[in-house]
Amino acid sequence: MSATPDAKPLKGLFIRTHGCQMNVYDSERIRDVLKPLGYAPVDSPEGADLVVINTCHIREKATEKVYSELGRLKQMKLASGGKMTIAVAGCVAQAEGAEIIRRQPAVDLVLGPQAYHKLPEMIARASRAVGDRLETEFETVEKFDALPKTRDPDGPTAFVSVQEGCDKFCTFCVVPYTRGAEISRNVDDIVSEVRDLASKGVREITLLGQNVNAFHGPAPRLGGGEDWTLGQLVRHLARIGGIERIRYTTSHPRDMDAGLIAAHGDTLAMMPFLHLPVQSGSDRILKAMNRGHTAGEYRDIIARVRAARPDIAIASDFIVGFPGETDADFEATLQLVRDIGYAIAYSFKYSARPGTPAAGMALHVPEDVKDQRLQTLQALLRDQQTAFNQSQIGRTLPVLVTGKGRNEGQMHGRSPYLQAVHFDGTGAELNQFVDLKIVGASLNSLTGELVRAREPAQ
Ligand code: SAH
Ligand code: SF4
Ligand code: F3S
Repeated sequence: MSATPDAKPLKGLFIRTHGCQMNVYDSERIRDVLKPLGYAPVDSPEGADLVVINTCHIREKATEKVYSELGRLKQMKLASGGKMTIAVAGCVAQAEGAEIIRRQPAVDLVLGPQAYHKLPEMIARASRAVGDRLETEFETVEKFDALPKTRDPDGPTAFVSVQEGCDKFCTFCVVPYTRGAEISRNVDDIVSEVRDLASKGVREITLLGQNVNAFHGPAPRLGGGEDWTLGQLVRHLARIGGIERIRYTTSHPRDMDAGLIAAHGDTLAMMPFLHLPVQSGSDRILKAMNRGHTAGEYRDIIARVRAARPDIAIASDFIVGFPGETDADFEATLQLVRDIGYAIAYSFKYSARPGTPAAGMALHVPEDVKDQRLQTLQALLRDQQTAFNQSQIGRTLPVLVTGKGRNEGQMHGRSPYLQAVHFDGTGAELNQFVDLKIVGASLNSLTGELVRAREPAQ
């Protein structure tokens, strides 16, 4: 059948996503917002009508990457005869605003994380070359309400944003400034989004928030007007037909309440994986970071979580070389890592961010000391990660098949502990749960053999 004469011609949309999973989610929503305008995703910025760079401001390197990318895009825009529209979204957009257009005039639009629903209006204004090219007000409630209610998932897993922003003000971090104050989404809206995703074949959801366990969403219908905690939300979502796995990220130790810990033990869909960043093992540094907890309190929380779910995989984030960090402080971090035993962890050299309290602190650690400490910490974390992966050998694990491998017949998926598992996919289908016997393990993945396929794919 030929296209109807009034069908809008498709316009190419290229989105590059930097930073955290919140940005990955936001990029999906940007795609959803632009779909009714005739924009369809393309694989390369070359020749695209609209290019959106969704940026991250967390460390200096991340921010600098944006400007070099914009330089390359400017060349493509020139080659297109100026047809390409360039939009900068995300946390650099929020932090630097109009400065971005000053540094790179080829940029047409700058919009902060709370303004994505305004994108269609901004594109229209830009094409008429009138009005504001900048939208960086905080209007979170409006954003949650204004984004399209239904989504087209990409396969059997999906992110669901439940909370945004942060009130914790760790002294090193830009997030409270780029994402604004903590705000939780309405429970009834989250439930209908998850139901919709489940009806489209989603089996695993990851609830997202900068401080996801600080969630306290109003539940006008389901909770009789009371706010719900994350634990209550998880228990409810676990009852939605089709939803077999629930994860959440990222959490703060101070918000790890008893109800959420208990849900790890008694809610079947709750996956045995907890990303609980600690940043440092030294109480002195934790205090200077304004984390609001000690290393002992963190150990205690992990012990309680493990009592509820003994096989749980623990993940974390670390910063080395925070101002004033001594060898003894760093040794306390190594000791904490040895004591806890991580399945996976991300570690970074402290990066001074303009406007944050830590940037103005005394005793900045020299770059070569930071490098050395990072190498030492990462070597220990790599050993623990490999050991954790190897401890799965011989077990049979349920794996959700999410993709095809590079080699003919190969497939891959995720274990309950969020490990990537590769296997010979003969007899298996995409989007299906399979039981795999784990026969090999390396730093970054497991190898499995098909024992049985558990259900027909949807
Ligand atoms: N909300 C989460 C994480 C936010 S940012 C939390 O509270 O844990 C992700 C990670 O980036 C942080 O956990 C921290 O380890 C790292 N990070 C944040 N600011 C940084 C900085 N200025 N320098 C280096 N690493 C930083
Ligand atoms: Fe940043 Fe701290 Fe908030 Fe995490 S809790 S986003 S590290 S200020
Ligand atoms: Fe980066 Fe913003 Fe996420 S600064 S880590 S993209 S909240």
